[in-house]
Amino acid sequence: MSWQVKHERPEDNSEPGEYFHASSYETSGMRRTQEQLTQRALELLAIPPKSRVLDVGCGTGFSMKVIENQGHTAVGIDIVESMIEKARERGLNAVVADMADLPFEKDSFDAIVSISVIQWAKDLKAVAKEFKRVLKPKGGMVAQFYPFSEDEAKSMAKIFASQGFQGGLAIDQPEHAKKRKVFLVMKLV
Ligand SMILES: C[S@@+](CC[C@H](N)C(=O)[O-])C[C@H]1O[C@@H](n2cnc3c(N)ncnc32)[C@H](O)[C@@H]1O
Repeated sequence: MSWQVKHERPEDNSEPGEYFHASSYETSGMRRTQEQLTQRALELLAIPPKSRVLDVGCGTGFSMKVIENQGHTAVGIDIVESMIEKARERGLNAVVADMADLPFEKDSFDAIVSISVIQWAKDLKAVAKEFKRVLKPKGGMVAQFYPFSEDEAKSMAKIFASQGFQGGLAIDQPEHAKKRKVFLVMKLV
């Protein structure tokens, strides 16, 4: 049976700038969740050692730290200025930008990691195009996200496939509404 979430999601009725504030974002629970999701995402994508990785929607940098601790170089972008300021205070290389308009040259990254972000996209096709543009040929992307339903997750995967990505969804604990984790794991061919 296909699933859909029963509760309202913040992205259904707010903008990132209203919902995310660096001052209230950093709880120990959020840190743990972001770290665990990032570890799992990196396991699923299996990025080659010492890759240059773009973290899309990097927030205050919890995921970036995990990426760097695994020996990669991380560059982050986020649309909310206070989140980027905090990431920079940590010494991370992060800039304010929208995921649909990335401030990088073509072929800049070996991989893209995005944790709990792409469900905020207003135009996912534009995001997929940007991911393709900034990734090197044969580059990979992994995005953990919170789709409204299984059907929406499949449509989102199709949008990336339409831009030349191959791969699909990996869903941990699919039957468990609260523990279910959805990842899109794809590579350019
Ligand atoms: C749950 S946080 C994820 C944070 C990050 N993974 C971490 O380790 O803390 C989601 C982030 O997505 C960002 N975001 C939402 N829409 C965005 C967009 N259009 N472009 C870039 N970032 C966006 C938010 O500002 C927020 O910081």
